[in-house]
Amino acid sequence: MTTQDDNLSQLHVDRDVLDGYDGPVPRHVGVIMDGNGRWAQNHGLPRIKGHHEGANAVRRMVESCRYLGVEVLTLYAFSSQNWGRPEDEVKGLMTLFDVYIKRERDRLIANGVQMKAIGDRSKLGERLQQAIAKLEADTAPNAKMTLQVAVSYGGREEIVRAVRRLGAEIEAGKLSAKDIDEHDIERNLYTGEVPDPDLVIRTSGEMRISNFLLWQIAYAELYVTDVLWPDFDEVHFVEALRSFTSRERRYGKTSAQMS
Ligand code: IPE
Ligand code: IPE
Ligand code: MG
Repeated sequence: MTTQDDNLSQLHVDRDVLDGYDGPVPRHVGVIMDGNGRWAQNHGLPRIKGHHEGANAVRRMVESCRYLGVEVLTLYAFSSQNWGRPEDEVKGLMTLFDVYIKRERDRLIANGVQMKAIGDRSKLGERLQQAIAKLEADTAPNAKMTLQVAVSYGGREEIVRAVRRLGAEIEAGKLSAKDIDEHDIERNLYTGEVPDPDLVIRTSGEMRISNFLLWQIAYAELYVTDVLWPDFDEVHFVEALRSFTSRERRYGKTSAQMS
């Protein structure tokens, strides 16, 4: 089921495979892009080569989502905890983000994809922060899809930040503690305006969340595949979507209430 409303001619995706999916399209898909290191190891390559190959899978996923009409795609690229990796890997990843921003800019704009970074960007180098801010501004007009890239992101860190911000509102006399509701938490998360993920995909077989969007995934459907992120393609995405379609989302109610 593709959106017919606009120009999709620039998308380099396997249309035959994606057209084979005719179920409902989730509004928001989140991906824990895991397994780059193992992919590299399996190919006898240094870990950073796996991250480079992972960037190609990112382009494929972004354009597949755009083609199918997904409104929001959130990609977990670098966690708050990933800062603890060996220095050369962290450096390599930061360079890769910089390269990705330069390489993908024109394609994102041509395809109407708005990029937003979520996470603690103050930890990133000054130049990378500027490149991100520029890409966000350049891709903001005419957006048909939002790509949220979680960099230096942790779900717990995000919630702590929200609590601090609410505390500041209370100190400033703008809010009283007894009036805090879910909406107050949400508007203080990085993801404020976007709907919660409907589907979260994790590659490389690990059955865990690893600090991804803890608040927002309360009722997301989870899908884990053994495929390593650099190998994840349109066929695997359609498999995930078919699994999503087969689920009954009950939100705490009974099956009878849902039908
Ligand atoms: C995911 O791949 C990318 C990042 C966390 C930056 P990994 O680098 O975690 O790959 P594995 O899990 O070691 O295979
Ligand atoms: C999760 O992967 C973070 C990203 C995909 C960016 P990790 O490889 O860091 O997660 P763990 O360590 O296996 O939980
Ligand atoms: Mg990993």
